[in-house]
Amino acid sequence: MSEANRGGTLPQTEQPGEDPLLELAGIRAGYGAIEVLHGVDLVLRPGSLLALLGPNGGGKSTTMRVCAGLHPPTGGELRFAGRTVNGVSAQDAARLGVCSIPEGRGIFPNLTVRENLWAATGTGARLEDVEDRAYARFPVLGERRHQLAGSMSGGEQQMLALSRALGTDPAVLLLDELSMGLAPMIVTRMYETVAELVEGGLSVLVAEQFARAVLPIADTAALMLHGRVVAAGPPAAIEDRLSSDYLGG
Ligand SMILES: Nc1ncnc2c1ncn2[C@@H]1O[C@H](COP(=O)(O)OP(=O)(O)OP(=O)(O)O)[C@@H](O)[C@H]1O
Ligand SMILES: [Mg+2]
Repeated sequence: MSEANRGGTLPQTEQPGEDPLLELAGIRAGYGAIEVLHGVDLVLRPGSLLALLGPNGGGKSTTMRVCAGLHPPTGGELRFAGRTVNGVSAQDAARLGVCSIPEGRGIFPNLTVRENLWAATGTGARLEDVEDRAYARFPVLGERRHQLAGSMSGGEQQMLALSRALGTDPAVLLLDELSMGLAPMIVTRMYETVAELVEGGLSVLVAEQFARAVLPIADTAALMLHGRVVAAGPPAAIEDRLSSDYLGG
């Protein structure tokens, strides 16, 4: 249990005996002089999916960037497997097994599918293995291995982004707005894949403005408003708050 949770503000996320893999306790962060995260508490358990929900500008993406080592916190503690890692670089976060797919997918549009997958081999994986796994999971990527990523459909690009991330064999996957710009059917398909990965032991933190897509597969959900997590717990409980607090649900 985190110090921040000791007062019992987030009792529903507690599962004694299971140490959190990723934990934010009172995290503060901002841009220049403007603070946008005012003490964020989050707990991601091993092999579970945590959905971070909330309306525009609440601080979801900033929180994800802090977790990925892409944005330094100005206060609080970022912990990985019980160790405080404040100020960790993105490279070191990746070495710890934290991999992120940013808003907008973070693939290289002017490179082919195959060339994009090369990027995952920086952490030591063999290209053939990364390719084999990607094409087995998403056969369409195999058919398009020589196509420029930027010319593929949004869904295919998201499949590529996910395949690239998985190529690094992460322990924690951070997904920011997986559903952005995708047809509902593709979103469902992508989250089915994510659910399979979680079943296989991966820990996933998903930031979503549109809760409907991710709530059915989430183990825990957290509602973020104005730079704070105002509620966390079982998806059904958070879903009730969503519909009463704002219309994003
Ligand atoms: N690069 C930046 N420079 C200055 N302010 C920023 C920057 N990025 C985000 N912000 C501000 O920080 C606050 C939180 O933004 P953030 O992107 O984390 O929210 P979000 O919950 O991901 O929103 P959305 O649902 O629209 O993606 C907003 O007020 C935003 O304007
Ligand atoms: Mg965002």
